[in-house]
Amino acid sequence: MNICIREFCEADLKQLAVLENELFSAPWSEAMLLESCQKGYSWVMETETGEIIGYLIGELVLDEFSLYNLAISESRQNHGFGFRFLTFLKEKMRQLACRKIFLEVRSRNQSAISLYRKSGFQPLYLRRNYYSQPVDDALTMVYELKQEGNTDEKL
Ligand SMILES: CC(C)(COP(=O)(O)OP(=O)(O)OC[C@H]1O[C@@H](n2cnc3c(N)ncnc32)[C@H](O)[C@@H]1OP(=O)(O)O)[C@@H](O)C(=O)NCCC(=O)NCCS
Repeated sequence: MNICIREFCEADLKQLAVLENELFSAPWSEAMLLESCQKGYSWVMETETGEIIGYLIGELVLDEFSLYNLAISESRQNHGFGFRFLTFLKEKMRQLACRKIFLEVRSRNQSAISLYRKSGFQPLYLRRNYYSQPVDDALTMVYELKQEGNTDEKL
């Protein structure tokens, strides 16, 4: 299937809110999604027929990207789209001279943790009872981008 990744725009809000409600126990509101859209650094994955099958929301501050949300619609999961989205993000961040990508994931979300590990993210630490609905620990993970000529220390 041909897919493209493009910037998240306001016209996508309704579709994203539907997916958000289907996929998360504590979904973001449309207002929160709109705020992310306006900040930039958020993308949707779309089929050639215009179906949005996934989205990635985050924020770049100086040389660190925080990945707030990654989701693939239920019927399109397990086809490698989440992995492709992270590959896109890493390349994009490399171009923007970003050094590290951070994320937090529910400690019981094994499919997401496996995806992040497969994409090269390393676990950093657990934040106890960070999430509600239901209560869960947050696992913080990081991906360190190798920039040409970057001789900085490792984490
Ligand atoms: C987590 C999520 C983004 C994964 O996207 P996906 O497109 O289904 O993942 P991919 O097909 O690219 O899978 C890549 C790897 O992720 C892991 N993975 C994905 N789904 C998995 C599952 N159900 N069980 C175990 N591992 C899984 C595997 O390591 C897989 O590699 P493999 O196919 O070689 O085994 C998707 O399941 C989703 O949107 N879930 C609901 C929202 C969510 O939890 N988002 C994460 C918030 S932090």
